[in-house]
Amino acid sequence: MTTPTSSVQATSAANTIAQFASDVRYYMMLEPRQLPSRYLYDPLGSALFDAICWLPWYEITRAERRLLGAHAADVFRCVPSLSTIVELGPGSGQKLRMLIEGGDSHRLPVDVHLVDVSHDALTRSTQTLASLAGVRTITHEQTYEAGLEAVAARAPDQGRTLVVFLGSNIGNFDPPDAHAFCRAIRAALAPGDALLLGADLIKPERQLLLAYDDPLGVTAAFNRNLLMRINRELAGNFVIEHFAHRAIWNPSAARVEMRLVADSRQHVSIARAQIEFDMSADEPIWTESSYKYEAGDVERMLNAASFRLNTHWTDETAQFALFLVDAV
Ligand code: TRP
Repeated sequence: MTTPTSSVQATSAANTIAQFASDVRYYMMLEPRQLPSRYLYDPLGSALFDAICWLPWYEITRAERRLLGAHAADVFRCVPSLSTIVELGPGSGQKLRMLIEGGDSHRLPVDVHLVDVSHDALTRSTQTLASLAGVRTITHEQTYEAGLEAVAARAPDQGRTLVVFLGSNIGNFDPPDAHAFCRAIRAALAPGDALLLGADLIKPERQLLLAYDDPLGVTAAFNRNLLMRINRELAGNFVIEHFAHRAIWNPSAARVEMRLVADSRQHVSIARAQIEFDMSADEPIWTESSYKYEAGDVERMLNAASFRLNTHWTDETAQFALFLVDAV
């Protein structure tokens, strides 16, 4: 089946209402019903995701920060004459700031390209980086693919480029799309450029479920907010109280599946998407998949995309890995 993130359209209009309406129409009529996860990140969704990153049960952010804190200087050392950094999905910009601050300041100045469909994320990450001397930020309010193409089109004559893709966001792609996406990153780079990729590793089910269905209900609020956004922006009629957040670990596919499940029969109408349908009790809407990896699988995927492992660092407590690979 098609999962929500599998058909990211390479269009700079990805966040317009018309695009949102046509995506909702298309994905909600699939079997099972789905919603593309990139629409989770409106201003409230982004704030709720920031809150998720503070939860003791969601370890990805802290594990990644520990690794970046410990190895920022190594990253700069391993990629000599770095002149350009491209971050796909910068969020608040805090991790990139840590990387640059912990790196070798003699290597500056650098051009930093921030790519995100969320205007809010671009504003916040630009602010976070603003006070760093020797850093010039360029924002791309686009899909990752379109942003990578834009960056490739203006590649510098001198110096190397480092693409940064953190937060285990690679895990939100289906495996074939994750492979294709690694190849798309490679296609935007020249030999000698590099990629820094963060990936969450397979861990016990109990730990995974707490990370995606926390006792405070923040993750549930984050997921259900997507229905609020549809109600507001697309004139939908979802009764939020009747949709529960569910996270399920699917071991054969190695992914956590996030759903919104109707607690009773619901008549749904989304005027601006021109759709109207009934949902039965217990019928799910699939909003996100979060794949978890074995370290060896990530390395094989990167090799297949013409990258070679430079170094990889693992956080043993949280079972998270950072991969630094070179384009060959
Ligand atoms: N990229 C994040 C992840 O897969 C996104 C995320 C965290 C998420 N919690 C979520 C997406 C809950 C949907 C629902 O870890």
